[in-house]
Amino acid sequence: MQVLGMEEKPARRRVVLVPFPAQGHISPLMQLAKTLYLKGFSITVVQTKFNYFSPSDKFTHDFQFVTIPESLPESDFKNLGPIQFLFKLNKECKVSFKDCLGQLVLQQSNEISCVIYDEFMYFAEAAAKECKLPNIIFSTTSVTAFACRSVFDKLYANNVQAPLKETKGQQEELVPEFYPLRYKDFPVSRFASLESIMEVYRNTVDKRTASSVIINTASCLESSSLSFLQQQQLQIPVYPIGPLHMVASAPTSLLEENKSCIEWLNKQKVNSVIYISMGSIALMEINEIMEVASGLAASNQHFLWVIRPGSIPGSEWIESMPEEFSKMVLDRGYIVKWAPQKEVLSHPAVGGFWSHCGWNSTLESIGEGVPMICRPFSGDQKVNARYLECVWKIGIQVEGDLDRGVVERAVKRLMVDEEGEEMRKRAFSLKEQLRASVKSGGSSHNSLEEFVHFIRTL
Ligand code: UDX
Repeated sequence: MQVLGMEEKPARRRVVLVPFPAQGHISPLMQLAKTLYLKGFSITVVQTKFNYFSPSDKFTHDFQFVTIPESLPESDFKNLGPIQFLFKLNKECKVSFKDCLGQLVLQQSNEISCVIYDEFMYFAEAAAKECKLPNIIFSTTSVTAFACRSVFDKLYANNVQAPLKETKGQQEELVPEFYPLRYKDFPVSRFASLESIMEVYRNTVDKRTASSVIINTASCLESSSLSFLQQQQLQIPVYPIGPLHMVASAPTSLLEENKSCIEWLNKQKVNSVIYISMGSIALMEINEIMEVASGLAASNQHFLWVIRPGSIPGSEWIESMPEEFSKMVLDRGYIVKWAPQKEVLSHPAVGGFWSHCGWNSTLESIGEGVPMICRPFSGDQKVNARYLECVWKIGIQVEGDLDRGVVERAVKRLMVDEEGEEMRKRAFSLKEQLRASVKSGGSSHNSLEEFVHFIRTL
């Protein structure tokens, strides 16, 4: 007998997700987790102790959070740098993740559908394989950066080490397969040698057993890189289902957001403020900060500036800045340690974003129709900056040494000149395209539906 309203719901199948422990990776992975939860899956997130993101009561009981008992000291990230840290993390977690996954398989009443791991947590692949679970790669970067990484080996073998390294003239040349990228825009890291980067890319691009790749992008942003990857590089399905922050929101901030800046923004005029933030990893030397501060002061524009604790080498925060710094910023500026960035970008007072061009910041800015000043720091940010300036034409890239005159000109071009207004219009149009792509019938929406169907059949 069936009692109305008491039908047994079909058990949710479970997806296991493994984030890389950095803000720019945790946020999109948790947005993906929330998206899959809304599509009817239960979620297990396997985290490292390092940069553990505390879920507290922010997620329902269909979310399970498990910690891998690795023993990496907090100081390792700073001491080793991100790339050597990444190697160590992958080595440390290999065995413990296999044990953890084995236990999850035994414990789960509802069947595990697949393991989705951040591409930099490549240790997860072997464990999934041993537990006979399909594994899926999640890339938190643009598809163009992903495609660059996937051909790195070939480029390297074909003797392009020189342009990828130092020779100035060659670095300005365009990479034939990747117009309009120059060799100097390639996603190499300032934290490691080219050889170490090669090793990371060989590990992350080794997709022998992955059944598909999810990328946090939309085809309207990068259609040629997507076709390149789908047709020439990967033999497995690629699902561009982003921008995920527009599909599902998930509270994932590792640092406390200072919301007082929203009250300050409320007092400013429409499109009058430039927001400055360099994400969660990039650093800025004292002299660079001083040049930016002087350039901003000379531009006469209002600004909201995130200076993250630890982002100035040798200082806790801004205590080592020369006295003139406060004088320059007090008049028109507001400084916080960490902001509610998505809320800031959606605020009508914000008319421009000075950014290191991390992929999340790039998507969040385009998603709100805010044009950018691009000052990439490392890795994939250089690819994003080039696309912002030359492909989408909604960014001004500031290259070379920072100098107050250069800063002043860039800020005025973006915030005051007709050129900036044109960029704002193009950014608005891209925002509309992104919104359409995640709505029913849009390309990312369709891709997500295909992906969900795919994992239901695994
Ligand atoms: C890094 C890489 O730069 C990025 O390209 C890669 O895809 C992920 O790892 P990160 O340098 O931290 O990330 O930059 P970004 O991708 O922009 O991510 C930063 C995140 O922190 C964004 O989601 C942003 O909204 C958030 N943030 C930043 C805040 O919430 N408040 C702040 O004050 C600053």
